[in-house]
Amino acid sequence: MAASGASLDGKTIVVTGSASGIGAETTALLRRRGATVLGVDRQPSDNADQFFQADLSDPASIDGLVAALPAGIDGLANIAGLPPTAPPDSVIKVNLLGLQRLTEGVVATMADGASIVNLASLAGFGWANSLAQIKAASNLSFDNVDEFVAQQGIAEQAGRSYFFSKEALIVWTLKNRWTWRDRGIRMNCVSPGPVETPILKDFIETLGERAEEDMKIMDRPGRPSDVAPVVAFLLSDDAEWFRGANLTVDGGMSSHILQNVHEL
Ligand code: NAI
Repeated sequence: MAASGASLDGKTIVVTGSASGIGAETTALLRRRGATVLGVDRQPSDNADQFFQADLSDPASIDGLVAALPAGIDGLANIAGLPPTAPPDSVIKVNLLGLQRLTEGVVATMADGASIVNLASLAGFGWANSLAQIKAASNLSFDNVDEFVAQQGIAEQAGRSYFFSKEALIVWTLKNRWTWRDRGIRMNCVSPGPVETPILKDFIETLGERAEEDMKIMDRPGRPSDVAPVVAFLLSDDAEWFRGANLTVDGGMSSHILQNVHEL
């Protein structure tokens, strides 16, 4: 059955976090739209056309993955992520540093016109208020992440590692708006609000009352099927002129925050 939405016929797309939640839903949708999906996850799964097991918190595992992936890939959906309840250094490694290392490794051999989509979050919305910390991370690497976490007092604030990882990801995406322009390769990100997946409980646990208030304001939490079509759109040729953009798909939450902040 042909799926509605932009065709991805003939495209080969790498999806990280393919085993669960938003990554699994995206894998299924991209396949329905005609793409060949190369799934990547630390936990085994058989829902993609081909599966590569890798640990995105480990540089050696990422480098092995880059070497194993074929050249000429048309899309990379960086969806794997850890929730705020995971250790702070692991959150920053998977959600930011591993994603960056994989992207930089894959982009070297990507097809001209390829699309890279990063799964950020509403948690990254406040990036402009965290510029000092984001700029302090300009030399952040797998080797000094522990030092950075300690220096910045990241472990002392509940969920800060997660918020920081997503803020820095949105900033990294916008900074790379034209990095591979000569090859027509574009990078954008998607920022969902709370989505019903196995890690939603971790957000609620970390954010406590704040999350409960948000859930009351929203008509309903998101579903992976609200997010996957947005990722698929950015991977399609229809989104060719999107560069460094951050698409919010959050049931209106970011607009709600803006209205309150600016007293509109
Ligand atoms: P999920 O837990 O269902 O899926 C995450 C996947 O990432 C899992 O399959 C997991 O095995 C994989 N993963 C985690 N660490 C890994 C590692 N070291 N190496 C390889 N794979 C690893 O969670 P969900 O909700 O589907 O999350 C997907 C993305 O969406 C994440 O980046 C998350 O931060 C983001 N997001 C989720 C929201 C939510 O409310 N669920 C809201 C906004 C953003």
